Amino acid sequence: MKRGRTVVIVGAQWGDEGKGKVVDVLTPHVNVVVRYQGGNNAGHTVVVGKEKYVLHSIPSGILHSGCRCVIGCGVVIDPAAVIEEMETLVRRGVTLDGNLFISKNAHLIMPYHPALDRASEAKLGARRIGTTGKGVGPAYIDKAARVGIRMADLLDERLFRDKLEANIAQKNRILSEIYDAQTFTVEAILNPYMRYAGWLAPYITDTPLLLSKWMESGYSVLFEGAQGTMLDIDHGTYPYITSSSTTSGGAATGTGVPPTRIHGVLGVAKAYTTRVGGGPFPTEMKGEMAETIRERGDEYGATTGRPRRCGWFGAVVLRYAARINGLDTVAITKLDVLDGCETVKICTGYRYRGDLLTDFPEEETILKEAEPVYEDVEGWMAPTSHAKHEGDLPAKARRYLERLEELIGVPLCLVSTGAVRDETIVCDDSPLLRWFPSVRSSLI
Ligand code: GDP
Ligand code: IMO
Ligand code: MG
Repeated sequence: MKRGRTVVIVGAQWGDEGKGKVVDVLTPHVNVVVRYQGGNNAGHTVVVGKEKYVLHSIPSGILHSGCRCVIGCGVVIDPAAVIEEMETLVRRGVTLDGNLFISKNAHLIMPYHPALDRASEAKLGARRIGTTGKGVGPAYIDKAARVGIRMADLLDERLFRDKLEANIAQKNRILSEIYDAQTFTVEAILNPYMRYAGWLAPYITDTPLLLSKWMESGYSVLFEGAQGTMLDIDHGTYPYITSSSTTSGGAATGTGVPPTRIHGVLGVAKAYTTRVGGGPFPTEMKGEMAETIRERGDEYGATTGRPRRCGWFGAVVLRYAARINGLDTVAITKLDVLDGCETVKICTGYRYRGDLLTDFPEEETILKEAEPVYEDVEGWMAPTSHAKHEGDLPAKARRYLERLEELIGVPLCLVSTGAVRDETIVCDDSPLLRWFPSVRSSLI
């Protein structure tokens, strides 16, 4: 029997690494793309010629006709937002029927979740997380508390109403008594949610069963991670994280595909680093340099429009991401953004109270004090976007990439030098070519 390949695409930093672009580049080589965690806090940008698409809940593979896209059980779904996203895609000529499948077990983001998200952030004051305000954290709170409402519940009005009533009674008390915020009524939610149910019903299904059948018949699958390793609920910079398992392990629990059926993990990292929201960021740039990179890299959030904090590449972070995710290979994006830098810095370790740390410290208190130790690399001061092969890149840019590869300890597979599909170089001898041998010819 023909065996498909199943590969997890995971953000190796704090999100926005260019996962959407990498998934888009690899989609022609697979049959299925699956989102396994997060919600519409994600913003994955795909640029096709002059057209720009930003995907929030729907897998980026949807832009390729014939690719089946699954929203797995680990995702939390705001039905109003996903319907809007679907309508926008349909208006732009994308076919959803027969291509989009939503897990029955995925939890719903309810109107009180964004309200709780915003109220909780306001109360935290200086210690706020800087969330996207989409209600993702509160939806996962309900999931863990076993009071969440799932996609399947939406299809059973009586059950939905029962669960909604119980939730409203509790949420209204929290909103009014703890946060002094506006409350909700059952009717105001029930009516629109029943309309959403009608809209979404044809897409809601048993996705683990579907995936299992597809994989049995030899389909190849990409798992599209959202956010990034350092925002993982267990392995990220807690509490400044998102509320899901962003790392590769989440791909199994968030889809029902067993870990024994996953063949590889590809990490995506920018040639520098960005972070949106609060929390430690040891290699954050100060002043003019941060501004320059933000402008050159257009570093503004795809979901909230917030300016992203910018910093140098952290090899310590990447080594950590390689270990936690079991990265087989790494795609480096946005190399072109560094084209005009005279010197490029790589963080190789942290100085903490006289000690040199080369493993990422998990303690919040250590991270706060950790001073990055940098290695300077001479900038290449030349454009990179035209390059089709590694050999076309300026020698100093190649040296930078080689050094990153050495420090991470994992082979590179792709180098992205621009937002559009063909601004992508496939590296020699990478596992990617074993998984999807036709990748190289499709990009040249
Ligand atoms: P994601 O959340 O990981 O999918 O990343 P985002 O879409 O939030 O942010 C990445 C941004 O960088 C998007 O605007 C992409 O179009 C853009 N992008 C991706 N790769 C490259 C690249 O190699 N060079 C440049 N200049 N932009 C890129
Ligand atoms: P993609 O998939 C970057 C950040 C928020 C905040 C923290 C918690 O596009 O890479 P949340 O709303 O999830 O409770 O916010 O996580 N965050 C992201 N940062 N990219 C994302 O998604 C993010 N999704 C959430 O800024 O710091
Ligand atoms: Mg993004």
